[in-house]
Amino acid sequence: MGIERSEDAGVYKLTEKLAIIQTVDFFTPIVDDPYDFGQIAATNSLSDVYAKGGKPVTAMNIVCFPIKKMDINILREILRGGLDKMREASVLLIGGHSVDDNELKYGLSVTGVIHPKKVVMNNSAKPGDKLILTKKLGTGIISTGIKASEVNKNTIKKVTQSMTTLNKAASEVMMSVGVHACTDVTGFGFLGHAAEMLTDTNNGMVIESSVVPFFKEAKALVEGGFLPGGLYRNRDFRKGMVEFSEDVPQYLRDILFDPQTSGGLLMAVAKTKASRLVDSLLEAGVRDAVIVGEIVEKPKGKIIVRQIGLPLQGKTY
Ligand code: CO
Ligand code: CO
Repeated sequence: MGIERSEDAGVYKLTEKLAIIQTVDFFTPIVDDPYDFGQIAATNSLSDVYAKGGKPVTAMNIVCFPIKKMDINILREILRGGLDKMREASVLLIGGHSVDDNELKYGLSVTGVIHPKKVVMNNSAKPGDKLILTKKLGTGIISTGIKASEVNKNTIKKVTQSMTTLNKAASEVMMSVGVHACTDVTGFGFLGHAAEMLTDTNNGMVIESSVVPFFKEAKALVEGGFLPGGLYRNRDFRKGMVEFSEDVPQYLRDILFDPQTSGGLLMAVAKTKASRLVDSLLEAGVRDAVIVGEIVEKPKGKIIVRQIGLPLQGKTY
């Protein structure tokens, strides 16, 4: 399973019982603290393996560093942050590559393992499934605010905490309860990744925007014009698929398209298991897990976003 589909990672079957999952991600700093940046980049890179239900086992560092312009200690701190996250994930660092570059970038290539029959696809949801999101949105908007010095320390701490939280626990709970589909919410934003879940299916989706979790600080930033460039691109790319009901406020529409770094998992689970999955996630410390919508038969290929609609079955938090 590879690049012909917009899956989170490539999967290659080695034997009847074993497949490897491979993925790579790296990017420029989104917070000032190099140790935090290292942790965020590693957490983000590991996420695609967790989205597929796999167990990451090895990783390699990818480093672009302006060696003539920047203090080498900054790089040391970034790598230390990355390594600490790999340790937490029980992932072994087995190598890497660095180049001299004008712009600092860091990330990992990650290899994971899974039983070939247990791979969770992103577009295998079924009508009636509940959609569960495990992290708050708004990290892209807040990162933009950080670059403009518009964000206080406390908020930086909160979003860093979120972006350095591995999707490991969420993925393990997901695999023990059993789901139909999953993806992680990253650069295309919540609605962009939700749209990918509908690719090559006969499904549509209803999102209950009033229960989608987001960092409250993102509202004022959006209203102050601190929108990341990727947000506009995400919106333009998917606007034909998304229908907002009139009462969805503008700031919330923007937050739903906000590109996320190291965002949460978006899972589609059978209606009968939804409450159990949310409860198990909360018990495992995935505190923001909530039912945010459902898969529907009609309208096919569309995402309806509404503030108050028909009651969504199951618990919302
Ligand atoms: Co992904
Ligand atoms: Co990725």
